[in-house]
Amino acid sequence: MRYFRKITGEQLYLSPFDADDTEIYTKWAEWMNDRTVADNFGEYQNLVSTANAKKILGELKGYRFAIILLDNDVLIGHVSLHDINHLCRNAFLGIFIGEEKYRGKGYGSEAIRLVLDYGFNTLNLHNIMLSVHADNNAAIFCYKKAGFQEAGRRREWVFKNGKYIDKIYMDMLAREFKEQGDEGLKCE
Ligand SMILES: CC(C)(COP(=O)(O)OP(=O)(O)OC[C@H]1O[C@@H](n2cnc3c(N)ncnc32)[C@H](O)[C@@H]1OP(=O)(O)O)[C@@H](O)C(=O)NCCC(=O)NCCS
Repeated sequence: MRYFRKITGEQLYLSPFDADDTEIYTKWAEWMNDRTVADNFGEYQNLVSTANAKKILGELKGYRFAIILLDNDVLIGHVSLHDINHLCRNAFLGIFIGEEKYRGKGYGSEAIRLVLDYGFNTLNLHNIMLSVHADNNAAIFCYKKAGFQEAGRRREWVFKNGKYIDKIYMDMLAREFKEQGDEGLKCE
């Protein structure tokens, strides 16, 4: 797979990708069968083969990026702005770092900053929101650190590991992102 430095940060870049590229769909299948990823999207009950992954990826809409390390061009995850409403200028953000060994190293925070900058300052969005399971402490911490705040929740909405869990909605406005200034774009 050839990746493109569409949006470049300090440790990684965001690249468009082809859904029918072998690395893209085989990694997607691997990650969507990995409980540490799939459980956080309510996808663990699904059986994702490489053929399913190729089909699913081909049907996804919105601005979807592969997250690639600058040092070695390794694919480590995906980040997206999807369900975009250009009239109201809002969208949903989705992200995962597929490989466990690459989590907790600041890559998720940097990818979020880069895609928020693209969403607010290139696509001219006004509100970017996301949803997260209430037991996903790493993601909630990461989103708060990026400047998202809780906008509401659906109580006991997700059934996982034999328990019901709240689904939390978080959002950020363009002016809140701008208030962070350039500091907001420097990922630690
Ligand atoms: C959520 C996710 C995208 C975050 O990306 P990441 O690269 O692991 O996160 P970062 O390294 O940027 O860490 C962000 C902050 O969260 C903190 N953090 C990491 N794991 C944590 C945990 N289990 N509990 C609390 N805070 C945690 C980090 O310490 C860091 O804060 P710091 O910079 O002040 O130290 C990533 O962990 C992931 O893909 N998880 C699996 C899939 C998933 O949950 N996707 C989101 C679905 S809504």
